[in-house]
Amino acid sequence: MQTKLLQFTDEDLRIAGQLIRDGKLVAFPTETVYGLGANALDVAAVKSTYVAKGRPSDNPLIVHVWHKEQILDIAEYISPDAEKVIDNLMPGSVTIVLPKKSVIDDCITAGLPTVAIRMPLSVQAREFLRYADVPVTAPSANTSSRPSPTTWQRVAEDMDGKISAILCGENCQVGIESTVLDLTGDEPRILRPGVVTSEMLSELLGKPVPVITDPKSKVNSPGVKYKHYAPNVPMALDLTADTQKLADYYDKLVAEGRNPVLLVEHPELFGARNTWQIGQTDQAVAQNLFENLRLLEKQYDYIIASYSSHTEFADSILNRLIRSASHHVI
Ligand code: TXA
Ligand code: MG
Repeated sequence: MQTKLLQFTDEDLRIAGQLIRDGKLVAFPTETVYGLGANALDVAAVKSTYVAKGRPSDNPLIVHVWHKEQILDIAEYISPDAEKVIDNLMPGSVTIVLPKKSVIDDCITAGLPTVAIRMPLSVQAREFLRYADVPVTAPSANTSSRPSPTTWQRVAEDMDGKISAILCGENCQVGIESTVLDLTGDEPRILRPGVVTSEMLSELLGKPVPVITDPKSKVNSPGVKYKHYAPNVPMALDLTADTQKLADYYDKLVAEGRNPVLLVEHPELFGARNTWQIGQTDQAVAQNLFENLRLLEKQYDYIIASYSSHTEFADSILNRLIRSASHHVI
């Protein structure tokens, strides 16, 4: 299959929209990461998403919409909490899980009675969704288990020849995926942390909104149990920013014949060793995280990352870093 590279022109957006309605796969930018779009009302199209990504079919997909009325077409009801989130934080980088209507097939939700719904903030994403004119399922547009793509070039790296088109838009500003907020139970819960934090949600809803990320607890967001965000070289993660420990770890790898790189906040502390700046603020770390991993895996054979921020947003970055390193914390 030849993958078309489309631009954000009226003509190309029409082509992209038609491809979606014809049951094809089109990757598109959002403010979080690039998504791999399919017509949510076309079961065959949705199923082909799992094939293109090599994604296990028990990991459900988020349905993307561009205006709020579409939410009632796919969710059974909007609870008062859901209404507050919809009114105040959508469009935005939050995904809400609600009871699903029967129009949403089991292959989207992996058999769950609920559906995850997101209205992206990115104008380009909403332009695409408007031209598609149907609700669009979209997982991150990477091969399963790999770091999510935050530029169209990274989408092409994984998806060239496997999907009909890539909408070549802006680089993603947020850089990590949306917060997944479960609103189906008695109490709201965060199933995947993101830039919309527990603090922000608690304040809005006037009640605690815990983050449920323990993989051993009942897995309600099935995607979090799989290997995730992994570069294709080994990776170790340090949470202390202990310069001596990092330098020793690096030197030991070099003595073993490795060519490692330190992905750190202060490259200047490591002399002539290979280093790369992880980002000077949490926002910058998030924005460049997946791109940095995809860049460094091509030049080095071991990534030693160090991250010691303790803000609330830092937790969502740590959530990705720990998985990228396959829980290898030094
Ligand atoms: O920022 C994002 O959310 C991006 C962009 C493209 O919108 N999408 C994304 O999709 O990250 P994906 O497929 O990589 O991750 C979807 C997450 C998974 O952890 C999945 O288990 C969870 O959402 N999810 C989907 N439907 C769910 C449901 N009904 N109940 C609980 N979790 C659900
Ligand atoms: Mg993903």
